[in-house]
Amino acid sequence: MKAYTTIPYAKQAADLVQGPEVFDLNFEEKDFWFWIRVMHFENRYASINQLLGHTHSRNVLELSSGYSFRGIDYCKQHADAHYIDTDLPEVVAIKQNMIEQLTLEKEAKGNFELLPLNALDPIAFRATIARFNEGPISIINEGLLMYLDMVEKKQLCNLIHTALKARGGCWITADVYVQRSAEMQASLPQSKSEAAFMEQHNIEQNKFASYDAARLFFEEQGFEVVEEAIPDYASLSVMPHLKKVLPEAVRNSKEPPPKVQATWLLRAK
Ligand SMILES: C[S@@+](CC[C@H](N)C(=O)[O-])C[C@H]1O[C@@H](n2cnc3c(N)ncnc32)[C@H](O)[C@@H]1O
Repeated sequence: MKAYTTIPYAKQAADLVQGPEVFDLNFEEKDFWFWIRVMHFENRYASINQLLGHTHSRNVLELSSGYSFRGIDYCKQHADAHYIDTDLPEVVAIKQNMIEQLTLEKEAKGNFELLPLNALDPIAFRATIARFNEGPISIINEGLLMYLDMVEKKQLCNLIHTALKARGGCWITADVYVQRSAEMQASLPQSKSEAAFMEQHNIEQNKFASYDAARLFFEEQGFEVVEEAIPDYASLSVMPHLKKVLPEAVRNSKEPPPKVQATWLLRAK
């Protein structure tokens, strides 16, 4: 989906993904729901960048980055950056191969490292943090918390809190998702395989009951919510495509899209 946006390197990365068919961007045959989802992911990506732009530290640790190349782009823009890009070992091995095929490492002027890290492994987490020179750290993630149950979420909070208490800095998470009402769930088209995936990973249950519940949860883990990203839908590259397929009722509405997620900048109290 990100290949349909201007997110750096997304198109090149998608081209490398081995699928049953050659990856072919077809902008014409996509419907409203497809573009809504692309908008969601582009906005989520942009929301992290927005808040990262409000921090002054150039030490960035990205958790569970998947096949996202924000780190390369960040190091292209900031020669003084130290960006540690992490995910589980299997993903990192494939991503390393992609970086080599696309010769992306030469784009980074700053110090870019791609390392395997299970974000819940305390020893590996501390060892990764220790690679940064002194000074505050920005820890960022998108698309992780909904895979973790409450106990795992607390473990992760504890590791991040300890690191930020010692080093200073902040945690920017785009994973403040709230559970959808039954009507909302029923109205969203979903393929069988998507529904099975959501079920298998308990995605809906792992979301927060409400934004207030999420705030309370983070406060109980020792964090303060300092800032929330403000979506700038007009600036998203998906907008011209989405506008073409907007149903009449939505086109005439002055309301922003329903809020299903928030991106927060947190500090350790
Ligand atoms: C939905 S993807 C999101 C990837 C990327 N952040 C993005 O937005 O495109 C979830 C990612 O979380 C990673 N993941 C799941 N559990 C993890 C863990 N315990 N530690 C680190 N990464 C994990 C998966 O390998 C996967 O790459």
